Amino acid sequence: MAVLATVFDLFIVFAACLGAGFFIANIMSRFICNLPDSRPKVVVELGLHGLSGVLCVIILLRAIFNEGQTFVQFEGWPKLSYLWFLFLGFALATFMVFTVMGLVRIVRGPFLDPHTKSMVHPISFKPMTQPPLPRVNQLFDLELVEIEIAIPNLDPGLTGLTVGNLTDFHLGKVCTQDYVRHAIDRLMERQPELLAITGDFVNYPRHLDSCFDLLKGISAPLGVYVVRGNHDFWVGAEDIDRRIRQLGMTLLHDRAVEVERNGAPTLVAGIESPWNMAGVPLDFIPPDADKLKIVLSHTPDEFPRLARQNPHLVLSGHTHGGQICIPFFGSVVVPSNYGRKYERGFFREGESLLYVSRGIGCHPPIRTLCKPEVTLFRFVPGDPITPHENPQKIL
Ligand SMILES: [Fe+2]
Repeated sequence: MAVLATVFDLFIVFAACLGAGFFIANIMSRFICNLPDSRPKVVVELGLHGLSGVLCVIILLRAIFNEGQTFVQFEGWPKLSYLWFLFLGFALATFMVFTVMGLVRIVRGPFLDPHTKSMVHPISFKPMTQPPLPRVNQLFDLELVEIEIAIPNLDPGLTGLTVGNLTDFHLGKVCTQDYVRHAIDRLMERQPELLAITGDFVNYPRHLDSCFDLLKGISAPLGVYVVRGNHDFWVGAEDIDRRIRQLGMTLLHDRAVEVERNGAPTLVAGIESPWNMAGVPLDFIPPDADKLKIVLSHTPDEFPRLARQNPHLVLSGHTHGGQICIPFFGSVVVPSNYGRKYERGFFREGESLLYVSRGIGCHPPIRTLCKPEVTLFRFVPGDPITPHENPQKIL
């Protein structure tokens, strides 16, 4: 009995620690991560990390020094304060919620859109220096994800159109120029006809020169289109705008352009909300469906609003696919007002598809159960494809 009670105690301690940690991670995801990088933000983030640690230590100490009682033995309960009960109950309830959510995710599996078919090509990079936690860290286990999207009534002139997507370079000390060059080269070898870059070039202004040196000479027959991400606005939006224009790329600063392939038009639009201007009007994306419409938005949080304009495909990054995932529970921190909803992969609203890329780089320098990616889309006419195996399983 004593052994069972100890095992039960240990489980309660483990569950309460995880529950408290998950709750704090959820607050970070929804309210802190999207705030501009600043000293107060760093202080709040460190404070929340510290709070997780302190809560775990409190739980452990309470478990160890519970006056000889086992942790939740009935006789011990009256000795626990109401405040302690409330805290423990809350931590355990949070743990239960995340457990149920984890189970639902596993049972339901990733969203398989019947109009899409994916293939994954490993294109790992060998760094000169070992990343932190080399055994589990997937920082450089890059993948080229090739996706076919069937669009009903696609203009015959657009059959086979290829669109490449690069996002979240975060070029710097860890995601070096060599690594990002490797990622760009592997995608450009597939010769996408249109290239979409969806932001977060660097974390610090001192890396801007190396990053934009890399992009010199990058071109695509139908053009290279760019939207800036949160880090770009924090690093220097105008400087990055100037560099993009110098390279002959098109910045889609809350506007749309039209490109033609075999006489068939495609609308390519980009929004930089909320970092440029929260809730920017979307009337530059006409909701009628007489042409293929592709929208670039760094954050997937704009998708519910964008879907009202009926784009065929919205391309986003920003979440890094959750970046640090743990077995069974999945991602811990996802910088989104919707929490983990738009973590990675495909989402559908009405006729509109959203694809959230896991991106090339990272911030901080750890990726677990979440490999980086570059993405190539191919548009084909047609009805839903037969169900398929989605390669982007969460766990
Ligand atoms: Fe990012």
